[in-house]
Amino acid sequence: MPKLSIRDLELKNKTVFIRVDFNVPLAPGGQEITSDKRIRASLPTIQYALDQGAGVILASHLGRPKGKSNPEMSLKPVAARLAELLKLPVKMAPDCVGPEVAKMRPKPGEALLLENLRFHPEEENNDPEFSRQLASLCDAYVNDAFGSAHRAHASTAGMTKFVPQAAAGLLMDRELEYLTKVTKNPARPCVAILGGAKVSDKIEVIENLMKLVDQLLIGGAMAYTFMKAQQQAIGKSLVEGDKVDLARDLLARAGNRLLLPADHVVVTELKAGADSRVVREIPDDRMGVDIGPETIDAYCKVIAQAKTIIWNGPMGVFEKPPFDGGTVAIAKAVAASSAVSVVGGGDSEKAVKSAGVADKISHISTGGGASLEFLAGMELPGVAALSERQPSRI
Ligand code: 3PG
Repeated sequence: MPKLSIRDLELKNKTVFIRVDFNVPLAPGGQEITSDKRIRASLPTIQYALDQGAGVILASHLGRPKGKSNPEMSLKPVAARLAELLKLPVKMAPDCVGPEVAKMRPKPGEALLLENLRFHPEEENNDPEFSRQLASLCDAYVNDAFGSAHRAHASTAGMTKFVPQAAAGLLMDRELEYLTKVTKNPARPCVAILGGAKVSDKIEVIENLMKLVDQLLIGGAMAYTFMKAQQQAIGKSLVEGDKVDLARDLLARAGNRLLLPADHVVVTELKAGADSRVVREIPDDRMGVDIGPETIDAYCKVIAQAKTIIWNGPMGVFEKPPFDGGTVAIAKAVAASSAVSVVGGGDSEKAVKSAGVADKISHISTGGGASLEFLAGMELPGVAALSERQPSRI
């Protein structure tokens, strides 16, 4: 772990600024949090800082308010939920910068939540003066917002220039540990499972993983674009016409490392209770909605042999049961394997949860976009901005 960690910081009687990713889903109106998963994910870091005797300032964005204050994207409901989870009062600041906020500096053992950083356009513009103002609130900076680490914004990157040290929080540490473990010298065989609707969403990931993994298992609608490139029948299945040439090129370069589904669950129209059947060749009037049993069997055999598994994206239209069969079977196979397994992205996470096997996965990433960029081999600005750990401290 080459980056400085919160565990390396002396926090007693310091004011620590923790950039968290509290970008939680809210019910219409902005009052009710529909999933507190992201709040819970940073609790260990917050609790650690409080236990060390720090005063804690928490900062996050919520939604995309486009640089303007918007009560429907206020972090107030998050402060209330966080107080329940921490069993500690959490003060809510009226803004994230300015003299009024500066006066609210929390004492050791206290927590303050700043208002939505993106109410100021300077946050996304990574404005140096705004970064400096944020940094002036604290003595120490910690970034625990892995889900936002692919954004070069003031609170994730810019303000690190104005603090003595920038350390990773415990969630950030864990995310980097697992994502690094599966991508740098992974135990072999290393298998990646990629699904989802579009090849275009995952081109860089496929390109990068192709160089790394022993097998790349493809599912979801993106498989039909690859099948079209092989001139296989795909009927009315979803296809990205402008990506067929690219898919052909990827297939040629990946060779037999890339596996495509051999059979498919197909329907004439996508609706609950639609008459479905399993085919090897998709008829003109039908569309693929899931991988078939022969494919499940073949993919599960590969997964059972793996020592490292990276999974991103569902195998079919899993949000419309019974077309979740392939995704759930893959989730169970990944869970049953003794490999180090990392699951990234919202849909694959939902799949492992609905299959009831989330606790059998080594690591489920909290960052959809960020984990994809990491798997694509890109440098994440929020990670690059963290201080290097000096060898003497290891
Ligand atoms: C996310 O939900 O992926 C992160 O919080 C980043 O949000 P953004 O895509 O609006 O930058």
